[in-house]
Amino acid sequence: MDRKKFIKTCGMACAGGGALAVLLQGCSTSKTLTGTINDSDLVVSLTDFETKAGNETHYKKYIIVNNGKLKFPICVYRFDALTYSALWLRCTHQGAELQVFGDKLQCPAHGSEFDSKGKNTSGPADKSLRSFPVRIDNNQLKISLKAV
Ligand code: FES
Repeated sequence: MDRKKFIKTCGMACAGGGALAVLLQGCSTSKTLTGTINDSDLVVSLTDFETKAGNETHYKKYIIVNNGKLKFPICVYRFDALTYSALWLRCTHQGAELQVFGDKLQCPAHGSEFDSKGKNTSGPADKSLRSFPVRIDNNQLKISLKAV
């Protein structure tokens, strides 16, 4: 390969890699956010579920909430304006961090799966995920961490 071809090939690979990184970052940041801890509650705004398309408001099916004080993130599913589930993303088998794929939570360690309410649907884990009480207060979602 001559020098010009090599530089052109490397340039295209870098441009493609950069574009992919931007796309992946866009996907990951769109549903992951940092919640604030206030007393014993992890707090997020209800507007964090919103996405705008023109004049229409749509809602994300879930968001993943992190905070530096938590050992694992919490996935919050939105079923409707008043119904949510907040699930600890720690596998009940041996404690690996779960990955979220739409309505399904999957463990990368040994393949256990859970549904959006935390119910175990596939082993080797045989217990449901830990879930947290959620309440709505002044357009905020408050996830009680009292027993973490
Ligand atoms: S730690 Fe999750 S399936 Fe084993």
